[in-house]
Amino acid sequence: MADQGIVRGAAQVRILLMVTGGIAAYKSCFLTRLLVQAGFSVKVAMTESATRFVSPMTFQVLSGHPVATDLWGEDQSDALDHIEYARWSDLTVVAPATANTLAKAATGIADEIVSTLLLAQPGPVLMAPAMNDNMWRHPATQANVATLRERGVHLVGPGSGFLACGTVDEGRMLEPEEIVAAIKDLAVGLEPRPQPEALAIPTFWEGQQVLITAGPTHEAIDPVRYVANRSSGTMGYALAAEAVAQGAMVTLISGPVDLMPPRGLQSLVAVESGQDMAAAVGQGLQAGAQWLIMSAAVADFTPSNPATGKLKKEDLGTGWQLDMSRNPDILAEVVPAHRAEHLKVVGFALETEDVQARALGKLKAKNMDYVVANNPTEAGSGFGAENHRLQLLSSGGMIWASESRPKTELAKQLLVELARHQSR
Ligand code: C5P
Repeated sequence: MADQGIVRGAAQVRILLMVTGGIAAYKSCFLTRLLVQAGFSVKVAMTESATRFVSPMTFQVLSGHPVATDLWGEDQSDALDHIEYARWSDLTVVAPATANTLAKAATGIADEIVSTLLLAQPGPVLMAPAMNDNMWRHPATQANVATLRERGVHLVGPGSGFLACGTVDEGRMLEPEEIVAAIKDLAVGLEPRPQPEALAIPTFWEGQQVLITAGPTHEAIDPVRYVANRSSGTMGYALAAEAVAQGAMVTLISGPVDLMPPRGLQSLVAVESGQDMAAAVGQGLQAGAQWLIMSAAVADFTPSNPATGKLKKEDLGTGWQLDMSRNPDILAEVVPAHRAEHLKVVGFALETEDVQARALGKLKAKNMDYVVANNPTEAGSGFGAENHRLQLLSSGGMIWASESRPKTELAKQLLVELARHQSR
């Protein structure tokens, strides 16, 4: 079958693949791969029992997206907004669909991630049942199947063959190739779902491995005192949240801040000092990051000899000198050691004079691909201000100058501008 209808202009048909708890879950790994190869954009949700058969990590790697496995976001990597996941998809595929999932879908029960997503998403659904032959033939299952068909759910299979329970009978999930063929048939006639404003986003960031640093660093003087700066981390956290919303796999390396981590992160690495941050960035780059966005305000100097016990003011007298040494410059000194050819580096430059020229100087000196410049003394910008104003520059000069806007909006626009510039 030709792939026409699968790629809609620049955007792909979005498939939410729901994997439920049957041994056929292993076949859904192949299904994911085949769908991605066929040009679909795939995100996966799994029931808890499905995760007993196949690790979410397998689906994450195959789909290039975080996997939704629970409603509560107790684990960082699972902290996804399930309603947003449901809204994202053009087509929902449940494979394997167990007798239990069919029953829940037929009766509208929403007590875990998959049944909740099924109830929350209004688009077309295709189910590939898989179960023991007796369970399949049971009048309860057959009644549920009839209900679902009446409601317009597409069912493919089950086929006949060798079942995990040892019999050869009806109940086997169709082979991934057969399910892909059924999906392609459906996708050809599929109208793109209108995306709400917040979700009408470019696909550039989908599946990109993005490393973001945020916040200040704390440089220990002794176990209770430190040297720091005024960075709140808001911009880095907003960028991380927006990159997740745009489909990226985000690792956030955060200095000490008073912010809630965004949901849906790949991981959150909490660090204290510039040295810690340098090590975490090195690790993130080695793990294959495609983007490094250095929005952290790393302390330039750190106490040379931090005390192991609390310094007593009686011992320090009426004045004391703190001996400081330069912290490693992460962009200039750490990144080059781990820089893969594909890596794009975005740095920040806070300047109060001659903003563009100084920011471009930093871009060259620190080998950045892009620099985001801002002037905290400018009207509509600055520390603690609600609104902010940014400029995005590459070695060729200015790419974009923002209006004065909330940081969350700027984060979104910045990612769009980067994507636009990369796609030129
Ligand atoms: O030289 P300046 O500190 O203004 O450069 C700012 C940029 O360099 C930011 O992107 C910041 O995260 C990064 N930086 C760094 N390592 C340091 C200090 C700053 O990577 N030690």
